Amino acid sequence: MQKVLIDCDPGHDDATAILYAAAHLDLVGVTTVYGNQTVEKTTDNALSLVTLLGLDVPVAQGCAGPLNGIVQHGGDLHGKTGIDGAVLPEPDREAIDMHAVDFIIDMARRHKGELVLCPIGPFTNVALALRKEPRLASWLKGISVMGGTTQVGNTTPVAEFNIWCDPEAADIVFRSGAPLWMVGLNVTRQVGVTEKDVARLMAGGPVARIFGGLFDFFRERLREVHGLSTASMHDPCALVPFIVPDLISYRHCPVEIELGRGPARGMTVCDMRQLTTGKLENIRSMHAANCHVAVGVEARPLVDHILDAIIDWRLISEKK
Ligand code: BDR
Ligand code: CA
Repeated sequence: MQKVLIDCDPGHDDATAILYAAAHLDLVGVTTVYGNQTVEKTTDNALSLVTLLGLDVPVAQGCAGPLNGIVQHGGDLHGKTGIDGAVLPEPDREAIDMHAVDFIIDMARRHKGELVLCPIGPFTNVALALRKEPRLASWLKGISVMGGTTQVGNTTPVAEFNIWCDPEAADIVFRSGAPLWMVGLNVTRQVGVTEKDVARLMAGGPVARIFGGLFDFFRERLREVHGLSTASMHDPCALVPFIVPDLISYRHCPVEIELGRGPARGMTVCDMRQLTTGKLENIRSMHAANCHVAVGVEARPLVDHILDAIIDWRLISEKK
């Protein structure tokens, strides 16, 4: 079974990614980062979630802010707790006594060639781990991120939140040389939980009802702020290549992060041109392809697959 480590900022869709990974993959750890709220809150939320799901999975707390020191939180969409909309249980454990950066390195060393790292919050922990241990990229089977977009952004007209929070960190990840998958807003916004889906969850067991409450809150915030009609399941999409690979299609192409201070800061520049000849005078090529970029999704089957994991949580977890 594929081993995966989730680096996250729960977060409604992060919470869903933790459950989805635990249902279908070998989840070896959860590391936390600032993003949807402060790192203290996202860590507390991660601990509550592993408690709710009864997971025997270590949680390691990570960075409180980005490499450039200018912190931004996503409370606008995820509420004061970072996961408003349902009451989660008090954590039955504490975060382990190791920083997320060291835990990521340790897990990659322990599971050389087997571990997929899934950053689904700002990429600061992962960038610092890559900087601290230059062999890390070669130890990983891959890095599968939720972040960026090939079309419009959500935090600026062109930048997606996880990248926008720490573009310098994203740049380190995209230049790391590790096999890379990127699923961005162009795909994840199609993976939307509807009002009817929320009702289906609300009619389920205790875990399903908690997720129903979370999606209801998130859907309403996305409606108010972005005019969307569904709750986007951004973060679980990063796991799809290892669970139901046929549901998201990817294209291998060059991706660079815009680091300037202007309006394009944080943009994921994806070279979707299909240049057929080498050097031309006026047509500039980018570097070689470094990333599999998500370009298409079977959205309804994917939402149903994620909802099934939530509704059948007890059955699935007992079988594992
Ligand atoms: C990303 O930002 C957060 O709001 C979500 O958890 C997701 O990781 C989407 O832009
Ligand atoms: Ca997230």
